[in-house]
Amino acid sequence: MTKGKTSAALLLFGATGDLARRKLLPSLYALHEDGLIPADLKILGTARSAMSDAEFRDIARAALAEFLPEDRKNEKQLAAFAERLFYQPLDASSVDGFDALAEKLGDISGGLSIFLSTAPFLFGPTIKGLSHAGLTGEQVRIGLEKPLGHDLASSSEINDAVAAAFSEAQIFRIDHYLGKETVQNLMALRFANMMFEPLWNSNGIEHVEITVSETVGLEGRHGFYNDTGALRDMVQNHMLQLLALTAMEPPADLDATAVRDEKVKLLRALRPVAGDEMVRGQYGSGAVNGEAVGSYTDDLGEASETETFVALKAHVDNWRWQGVPFYLRTGKRMHERRSEIVIQFKCVPHNIFAERGGKLSANRLVIRLQPEEYVRLQVMAKEPGLDRDGVTLREVPLDLSLTQAFAKARRRIAYERLLLDLIDGDPTLFVRRDEVEAQWRWIDAIRESWRESGASPKPYGAGSWGPSAAIALTERDGVSWNE
Ligand code: BG6
Repeated sequence: MTKGKTSAALLLFGATGDLARRKLLPSLYALHEDGLIPADLKILGTARSAMSDAEFRDIARAALAEFLPEDRKNEKQLAAFAERLFYQPLDASSVDGFDALAEKLGDISGGLSIFLSTAPFLFGPTIKGLSHAGLTGEQVRIGLEKPLGHDLASSSEINDAVAAAFSEAQIFRIDHYLGKETVQNLMALRFANMMFEPLWNSNGIEHVEITVSETVGLEGRHGFYNDTGALRDMVQNHMLQLLALTAMEPPADLDATAVRDEKVKLLRALRPVAGDEMVRGQYGSGAVNGEAVGSYTDDLGEASETETFVALKAHVDNWRWQGVPFYLRTGKRMHERRSEIVIQFKCVPHNIFAERGGKLSANRLVIRLQPEEYVRLQVMAKEPGLDRDGVTLREVPLDLSLTQAFAKARRRIAYERLLLDLIDGDPTLFVRRDEVEAQWRWIDAIRESWRESGASPKPYGAGSWGPSAAIALTERDGVSWNE
């Protein structure tokens, strides 16, 4: 699939929402400042509240003042960016207002990109409204922000509703982890280097760990989070995408079809998780970064059965990964904010140093995605000395700090890349329908088994690494989480 035609207009649903203020407007501004979007690209925001273009520009200016890094704030550019912004109020639940929206947009023959970040129940009505007002032709593409449903059935319903008006090639499903620089780098590490790929299978690898831990709690998203839980908020999308990129076969090139074909093959090869290979947790009170914090019940204001932590042992049933466990864990209010992939290699087949007292550890590759960006390979080395009392071997890190190696390169937030790809029509980093459905199928089975067991989430102290059962999950295989 090749890149499409660059759009001349961007229509932003949910334009006054949290995502727009924190991420989308700052990203669009950065693209504007760097001259990466067409000079005449018009950005039309829409949301429920009635307001004028000028009032929307004020909201955008305030958001940029709050969320842009200082070195990005250029008064002249900020003023020029505001000139691109327009606003049209809309009640998306009825088709009535869509004609006025289309009128405000004007001629869309130059191409239109739509970014839909609305409550899931508005997806269907919004698509209807867009069709009604003629905003769905070939020159239109649509970006969909999560949550796209809460299980396979509801996600298929949304996908069907969108498919009634847009072809799959026009639909850009967003998983913002795919826009992260270091996630891109995972592909470079695997497929631009000779040394890893020959070992990247069950002959060379003992197990893989993927951790996405956060220190934040509910962040004011009470209703949404409590209806969703960690499994659907983080594992269904971000963690499974990380797993797919870590474990997929090499695609022939970076073409959207080639990459997504490999990911979906991998996702379909995931074995349903056994009941004793998963742990749900919910945070109690504790301390995070030295500050006392309340429990999930305190934050929510009521007792709940929603999990804020999940740990799973996943298996990929294909030739490459037979017998290699993938341990996944994610949670809120954990010890530290960390996203990383740890590849634990096998030990060498024979220790030639044994008789001289040399002990060996297996190599381990740590790919830290955030907050720091680095790739660290633990290799064995001999301690310097004459070794009269035996050989001492020690693990030494071979460090590649991406932050230092590319110190001059600007770090872009995921939405800069994703918005640019949407406007330019490059679907490689967006999730195809069959991927989403494979993800939901696996997640639904996990939820079904939770429902059958009826077990409550296990408590863990805020500021810890999760419930002790998550430690037991790996320790009984003789594996310790990388902490
Ligand atoms: C979102 C989840 O998709 O990802 C949030 O809804 C989570 O709960 C966030 O905090 C994490 O993203 P990042 O980029 O901060 O790791």
